[in-house]
Amino acid sequence: MKDYYAARAKEYDNIYLKPERQEDLREIEAWLPLKYADRSIIEIAAGTGYWTQFLVPVVKNLVALDAAGETFQVARSRLARDADRVQWVIADAYDIPQPATPYDAAFAGFWFSHVPMARQREFLTGLRSVLKFGATVVLLDNLYVEGSSTPISDFDSEGNTYQVRSLSDGSQHRVLKNFPTETHMHELVKDIGLNPVFKRWQYFWAFEFTLA
Ligand SMILES: C[S@@+](CC[C@H](N)C(=O)[O-])C[C@H]1O[C@@H](n2cnc3c(N)ncnc32)[C@H](O)[C@@H]1O
Repeated sequence: MKDYYAARAKEYDNIYLKPERQEDLREIEAWLPLKYADRSIIEIAAGTGYWTQFLVPVVKNLVALDAAGETFQVARSRLARDADRVQWVIADAYDIPQPATPYDAAFAGFWFSHVPMARQREFLTGLRSVLKFGATVVLLDNLYVEGSSTPISDFDSEGNTYQVRSLSDGSQHRVLKNFPTETHMHELVKDIGLNPVFKRWQYFWAFEFTLA
């Protein structure tokens, strides 16, 4: 995964150019920052900073974490002067560095779909350990939409689904990409999340909860 995204860093943002997704994206770009006004936030798997650019103007401070440092080069140039307001951390989302003061919010865009079923609780437990009680968590991700999404190529015995993706250098990569249901997400956080809300657009979903 990390190596795939390191190789894809320069062409990653093409995903945000799909014409049919523009209306949803404009809505989410307006909706998401409202969750983080004046918060101290950690953004997991921030990548090329597409969502970081909308969060930075409203937050108190933002730590952007990603395992592939290559993606931060794109993010820094996208954010220009705002890049200096972000603390860029190269780290593993399953081993989030402990902050001096816990964060009061977290965001992960298009990350959770890459977490294997068997590691979803591990990821959420690790995330919880760096957040304050009452912290806001939003996970944003893709709905599977026939004709727009990359087709699912296969699945494994744990229930993970995979896609075969091509990069512009001709290389092909089998990438784990899950499309969890609303019920699955509610079940997953039932003992750690208060007021969980699953929101849908045409191409995307967001799952929001407050840390219990
Ligand atoms: C689909 S991209 C999402 C990027 C960004 N959040 C966005 O929405 O545009 C997934 C990101 O996860 C990062 N990643 C992969 N494995 C990781 C890991 N174990 N820990 C942290 N980040 C990881 C990749 O480098 C990539 O930037």
